Amino acid sequence: MALRKPVLAGNWKMTKGPTETVGFFADFLNAWMPRDDRTVVFFPSDVSLAAALDATADRPDVLLGVQNVHWERSGAFTGETSVGMAADAGAKLVLVGHSERRHVFGETDGETAKKVRAVLDGGLIAVLCVGETIGERRAGDAEAVVRRQLAAVLPVVSAQEVERLVVAYEPVWAIGTGETASPADAGAMHRVCRDALAQAFGREAGDAVPVLYGGSVKPDNAAELLREPGVDGVLVGGASLDPAGFAAICGAAAG
Ligand code: 13P
Repeated sequence: MALRKPVLAGNWKMTKGPTETVGFFADFLNAWMPRDDRTVVFFPSDVSLAAALDATADRPDVLLGVQNVHWERSGAFTGETSVGMAADAGAKLVLVGHSERRHVFGETDGETAKKVRAVLDGGLIAVLCVGETIGERRAGDAEAVVRRQLAAVLPVVSAQEVERLVVAYEPVWAIGTGETASPADAGAMHRVCRDALAQAFGREAGDAVPVLYGGSVKPDNAAELLREPGVDGVLVGGASLDPAGFAAICGAAAG
């Protein structure tokens, strides 16, 4: 799947059960008509995935994913979802290493690598999230942190699998805070990601990996972020919960 056209992705986090999911798509699919020059993705809660799949059954232009998986195929892991189960339920993509997984739930670089490996083994697309905290940025370590997070994972991805990898740069200090990285700052960090990808896979394959920006993306700042060279799309939290607002963000991409 060629994903390096603008990717507009909504991460619903722990919001919207099945009933709200159905209501959201009734409005969103009215406001957003299929366009083949961009890819629209939603990451609902696992318990709302079936409702989302049903609501988007006539809209193959809208892809669905899950927010997290376990790296094991099955077993006694109460509360967890395997990649195979997510795929069976209709997920095409998986978020891995979201900052809330790392910082709220203590997920390590090593666990993130195991999850990416499991996602690729299961035939799905891994959306690997990276990003520094405000303390790390103030200490001048932003680039080093993102390089470390990428270095922990890229070696487990083979050249044949790289077309099923997406990277999302999400500075932790910009998530849910209303503070957004300036387009220039985002562009600089996207170049760091791009260089790491080129080093791992070669320039051509590395260049084909979409690098998304996430962190307080809103209808009124999406266009300028998406205009920044190297920003191939956005991963949107809060502003993806409103059908009209997210449709406006999807329309903001230059295409
Ligand atoms: P906000 O858009 O709410 O800042 O969240 C960003 C995010 O975490 C997307 O994964």
